[in-house]
Formats: sequence, structure tokens, C-alpha cells
Amino acid sequence: MTERIPVMRPQLPTADELLPYLRRIDEARYYSNHGALLRELEERLAEFYGVPASNVSVVANGTVALSAALLAVGAKPGSRCLVPSWTFVASAAAAWAANLRPYFVDVDEATWMLDPDALRRRNDLDDVAAVMAVSPFGAPVDTAAWDAFSDDTGIPVIIDCAAAFDAVASVEKAKPGRSPIMISLHATKALGSGEGGLVISTDERVMERFNQICNFGVWHAPGQILGYNGKQSEYHSAVGLAAVAGWPKRRHALEALTNEYKSRLSIIDGIGMVPGYGNGWVSCYCNIRTAGDATASIAKLASAGIDTRRWWQKGVHRQEAYSRFGRDPLRVTEYLADRVFGLPFFHDMREQDVNRVIEELGTALQG
Ligand SMILES: Cc1ncc(COP(=O)(O)O)c(C=O)c1O
Repeated sequence: MTERIPVMRPQLPTADELLPYLRRIDEARYYSNHGALLRELEERLAEFYGVPASNVSVVANGTVALSAALLAVGAKPGSRCLVPSWTFVASAAAAWAANLRPYFVDVDEATWMLDPDALRRRNDLDDVAAVMAVSPFGAPVDTAAWDAFSDDTGIPVIIDCAAAFDAVASVEKAKPGRSPIMISLHATKALGSGEGGLVISTDERVMERFNQICNFGVWHAPGQILGYNGKQSEYHSAVGLAAVAGWPKRRHALEALTNEYKSRLSIIDGIGMVPGYGNGWVSCYCNIRTAGDATASIAKLASAGIDTRRWWQKGVHRQEAYSRFGRDPLRVTEYLADRVFGLPFFHDMREQDVNRVIEELGTALQG
């Protein structure tokens, strides 16, 4: 029987790689509350992104990070937060958790993300408390364009770059600006700490408020605001530190796999990829767009032992708990949601498995 090829095989640092960090925790007998390992992880990440350590904060997970960032920028409770429906459900969940009403807007066909110029032209921005731009599957987002949108309209912007751990560092236009960027450190991401979320902003006041919110509303400054517990423990920070130490090797493997898929897929008719896929950045996915609805191809691949995943399901607005929220017509979202799915992609994928995926995909697309 042929082996199934999983869609993803996450791999965090091994027990041996973690041991030196765990010994430090044992020695210090300090397990959470902004310990030495968390601070060191934030320093390593700040170096990686070329910003001061005060611009970086690591918290419990990406969803909490998005929600706290919305509160930190002062998004007015009860108002609308413009969110693409073409995203993972967590983006909208974070807006809801920040006491905002997600309102779904369509993405641009050429970029698969929100277009700041299209949003500027809207005549219903009065009750918009915030915009959440979302990186499609780890692609770079133009930070300066969103900072400019925010300056022009007075509407704060949060950038959900959950899978863009690499692009934010590697691609010039995606480098951190004032609008807070969130990067997930979930186990499935290119670099993971198990659970974890990273927020970066060059706005010190926003970072201060963000830290305050994630620490029960109290931080260095006197006084309290409303907040909760978003802290990351020393154990998750240990995993994060070991993962950062192994990043150059991991990135190299992901880049080789990305390039292999790009060249093999480029000769299959009717296949599209995430715009700019792999142009100087890597992520944890290889998503493709088929010419027509992908349901039959997905089923054929499954029966040939190739696991795939619609990572963003069929768009958030079509999910039960979110159908109650307002939305624009979502033509591009629905077009993409019907056609896009992820192929098997993980850093130690074998060449023979890539060959099998490409071969079976070719067969599945032939009808
Ligand atoms: C686009 C997007 N936003 C937010 C999140 C939430 O991140 P986390 O799982 O760290 O809460 C994810 C998680 O995969 C995601 O893909």
C-alpha cells in the first residue's frame, strides 16, 4: 500500500535542543511573568526584524495578540472592524474578542489582500474603528501603504501577518512600521514555539498599551486599564529560542522546497499560486489555485493518498458563527475560496513525495 502524504508535518525543536533552555528554567525557578527566556526571545526577534527590543512583544498566541493590538490602538468598542473574509477565522474572532463587529470586505484579485486605495474610496468609514489587513498565506504586506492609509483616514490598522514570520524580515516593503504587525508562532507555522504570537510596532505608546493589556491592564506606568492575561510562559519561550537558533537551517530547507514546487507547478496548465509566492520569502504553505472549483481535484488527490487542506475553508463569512455579521459582496473571496487549497508542504518533505504530489495533481486535474 502506498503511504499517505500528510499536508503538513510540524516539527518543533527536539528534547535535546530544548534541554539547555529548560535547565535555565529549573535553575531560576521562574516560570512565567516576563522571565529571562521571554525577554531573550523578544531581543532575538527584535534583532531579526531590525527594531529595538521595546518594539517587540511575545504573548500567548496570535489571536490574543491581534485582539490586544486592536485594543492597544484604541479601536472604539461596538464599532465595525473591516476584515477580509479571505482569511483564517482567527482574524475575525480577534475583532469580536476586542468588542468590535467584524465587517467583511473583499480582497483585491491581483494581491489576494485588502487594497488600501479601495478602502479609502468608501463612503461608510465613519463608524469604522479599525481595519485588519491580512497577509495571504505569509506573503509580504506593504506596511508603509497601510501606515499612510491610517494617517489619511485616522483609522488604525492592524496587520495580521500570521504566516509571514519570514517575509516581514526578508522583504523590504513588509518591514515593521507603526501599524502593529502580528506574527503567529503556532506549531504549524514556519517558526513555532508551540503556541505564541508576536506583535511588532515602531509606535512605543502602542507597544506600552499592548503590554499593559496583556498583563491584566498593568505595566510599568502607574495606573490600570482594562486588560487580561496574554502572557507567554518561560516553557514556550524556551521552544521559541531553540527554534530561532535553528531558523537558518529551517529556512534553507523551506526555500529549496518552495523553489522546487514553483518550478514544477509552473508547467501545469491552469494552476495559479499566491501572488508573488516565494519571491524572496518562505512560509509554511504551498497553496494553489485551480482553474475551476477544486472539490473534485481535492477528492481525487485524497483517494490517491495525498492530503490537502483548504486552509481558509470557504471564507469566514460562509462559516456558521460569522454569517450574522455585515459584509460587502465578496466576489473575489468566493472565487478564491472555491479554488484554493494547500498541497503537502513541510521542511523535510522527500523529493519522491514532491514527485508523487505533482504527478497525482496532474492526473487529478485531467478530469
Ligand atoms: C491568518 C491567521 N490569522 C490569525 C491566526 C491565529 O494565530 P494563532 O493560532 O497563533 O492564534 C492564524 C493561525 O493560523 C492565521 O492563519
